[in-house]
Amino acid sequence: MDNSLKHLFENNQQWAADMTAKDPDFFKKLVAQQNPKYLWIGCADSRVPANQITGLMPGEVFVHRNIANVVVHTDLNCLSVIQYAVEVLGVKHIMVVGHYGCGGVAAAMQNKEFGLIDNWLRHLKDIYREHQDELDHIHDHTERGDRFCELNVIEQVHNVCHTTIVQAAWRRGQELTVHGWIYGVRNGLIKDLKVSIASPDDLQALYRMTEKS
Ligand code: CO
Repeated sequence: MDNSLKHLFENNQQWAADMTAKDPDFFKKLVAQQNPKYLWIGCADSRVPANQITGLMPGEVFVHRNIANVVVHTDLNCLSVIQYAVEVLGVKHIMVVGHYGCGGVAAAMQNKEFGLIDNWLRHLKDIYREHQDELDHIHDHTERGDRFCELNVIEQVHNVCHTTIVQAAWRRGQELTVHGWIYGVRNGLIKDLKVSIASPDDLQALYRMTEKS
């Protein structure tokens, strides 16, 4: 059995050749610098590739993906990505992008044990609990899951805004907006949930930080 994944290397060679044919300097420019304006925090789901969905080229979007696009305050991986994107790359926009039909979100609605991942999904269950009244009243299972996906995005937008990294950026006067979007796997379209936050004034007082004294 050929397990060297030859077809992927063939695809890759073809792609590199196409890119160079369109713009002979394409890779030269990328080597010189990456200058993305956006940080995409999305689900690891294979159906939600950041660049393709938004028509962005390599170099145009910095990406962090995990199961169910969760931003946890002790997750050094995600926090490091946010810090690098904000402080070094100087991105102007962070978008948290969920998607309808998210398997992670659906799993968090069940009582089944899945193993290690249950520790990750617990963050989602906490969100469900906070919105239990609203969610339990949606009787259609798919609709309830979809709303839960939206509420998760909104929660994660706030989590991004509450990080010391984003708070410090706003204090420095850095232009930075955090958006909440959701992607429809069924139609390929992104919907803006209109929960963008661009300054500490948009945050609940509890989470507004002043300078260290
Ligand atoms: Co997902």
